[in-house]
Amino acid sequence: MSSTVLKIAALAGDGIGPEVMREAIRVLRAVEAKFGLTLQITAAPVGWAGIDASGQALPDATLALCRASDCILFGSVGLPDRDPTIPKEARPERAALLRLRKEFGLFANLRPVKLPRELAHACPLSLERQGAGIDILVVRELTGGMYFGQPKKTEEIPAPAGEPSRKWFRAIDTMVYTTPEIERIAHVAFRTARLRRRKLTSIDKANVLENGVLWREVVTAVSREYPDVALDHMFVDNGAMQLVLRPTQFDVLLCENMFGDILSDEAAALAGSLGMLPSASLGAATGDRVFGFYEPAGGTAPDIAGRDLANPIAQILSAALMLRHSFGLNEPAVAIESAVGQVIAAGLRTGDIYSASESGARRVGTTEMGTAIAAAIGH
Ligand code: IPM
Ligand code: MG
Repeated sequence: MSSTVLKIAALAGDGIGPEVMREAIRVLRAVEAKFGLTLQITAAPVGWAGIDASGQALPDATLALCRASDCILFGSVGLPDRDPTIPKEARPERAALLRLRKEFGLFANLRPVKLPRELAHACPLSLERQGAGIDILVVRELTGGMYFGQPKKTEEIPAPAGEPSRKWFRAIDTMVYTTPEIERIAHVAFRTARLRRRKLTSIDKANVLENGVLWREVVTAVSREYPDVALDHMFVDNGAMQLVLRPTQFDVLLCENMFGDILSDEAAALAGSLGMLPSASLGAATGDRVFGFYEPAGGTAPDIAGRDLANPIAQILSAALMLRHSFGLNEPAVAIESAVGQVIAAGLRTGDIYSASESGARRVGTTEMGTAIAAAIGH
């Protein structure tokens, strides 16, 4: 199809990261062969793997590789047992993941949540509430809000007189958004809504937060450029409730950073398992190029790491998003998505989506799932 070399930095990270990344690469090699692509996939350590290799969660050499690549295919980082042993700022979540998001200006996080019919049993909602099917895209702002706002610190404060003597601390996080930050993520949400069912629900807490009031005003102003997209606004607490009561009302959900973090996990549970949820994090376009970062939304799951139990589908679908958004390769992306659909339809299930009561289902490990999906790509 194309002789261009597509440069991919593969950062598997910790926990189940390496084993699910292995399967994603297996599937990428299958589409490479089928569509005549040239993928240059280079692995580098990140997270605890980075700390163990060279003392930093994001080693300089890994960052240099990312800069020299077209995009990053990321696994997951952080190990709850080890994280408390080093200062907060040096831990993988902050020093690698949040730093990469900031470094590459990855402000737009897309998390598609789709429940395949065959996995209706894995969804915690009744069939009635699942309606004709759950198909939601969470658009999460990723480089602003409370996760990055300054000041961000914990400081000791004097205990008030008369209080028993012990240390008192005050923790401060700052939620801050500017008009342009809200505008650019709103444009992403409206543009993607146009490719879907043209319905956008903007989430905020405008009844309490200054940030919420500004968010609502700016999103409303941007909506005038998209008269063909139906916009409504919802407070985040109501949104969390509506997601479980009537998820079929949603098409695109636009959220600031923290609300998107929370609601995307909730939405993922509706899709059967966090192990099914891919994500794309995109920066601003420079020319015709958008730098992208692709990762499963689930974490490192250390409890099941290295045991061939993890579901590799979120990582594999993240690779499909990568082909689509970073390289404009829609056909190979669809090929991966269809292969996943075929294998699910054939009854293969990792533990997270397996139910003994489902007839025709067969429980498989990480490797067998990945191998089956790669085989379904065909030649
Ligand atoms: C996510 C994760 C991260 C986040 C953590 C690991 C920092 O929960 O990508 O949703 O909060 O953004
Ligand atoms: Mg999260």
